[in-house]
Amino acid sequence: MADGAVLLRGFARADEQVLLAALREITAAAPFRHMVTPGGYQMSVAITNCGDVGWVTDRSGYRYDAVDPGSGKPWPAMPSAFRALAARAAAEAGFPAFAPDACLINRYEPGARLSLHQDRDERDFASPIVSVSLGLPAIFLFGGLKRSDKPQRYRLEHGDVVVWGGPSRLFFHGVAPLADGEHALHGRVRVNLTFRRAR
Ligand code: SIN
Ligand code: FE2
Repeated sequence: MADGAVLLRGFARADEQVLLAALREITAAAPFRHMVTPGGYQMSVAITNCGDVGWVTDRSGYRYDAVDPGSGKPWPAMPSAFRALAARAAAEAGFPAFAPDACLINRYEPGARLSLHQDRDERDFASPIVSVSLGLPAIFLFGGLKRSDKPQRYRLEHGDVVVWGGPSRLFFHGVAPLADGEHALHGRVRVNLTFRRAR
């Protein structure tokens, strides 16, 4: 896709049942919720997390927090199947020894979108971002270092994994409004797992 950015088609397909089962456990303990941006807008994407820390947003800003603000308890642990998949994908893309401590889980219903942004709330930009797409297909927008760089458009399907790091670690990216549909395993949603080394 770019220097440091790789699209691994179908890389997570073989793990789909294990990922779904783990996802159900996580969301039973830490349900999806719509958070509010610092600007006061409610996100159309619903989120939850697993791992040592989770990405959260509210009126005071974006940050990583060890505690789920919804329950007051730590986020669910990162399942070993999640960790292993992320490390394998990173290695395949040229980033050996990726050890994520955070996994942001995004749920898109039809119409939900994610505007262009950089992932820059992490302390460590040496580690890549590993993004696993599950469920309905989406158009992933992948730009450059400047917000004004015209994004390329990639159709991401169930099981596709995108890794970006090195020279493209801070590239702007986003997701176009989700088209309606029905996925055999996940139903009427797209779920995206993004693995990061936050701390
Ligand atoms: C993100 O940028 O956090 C998610 C990207 C995606 O859903 O593909
Ligand atoms: Fe992102």
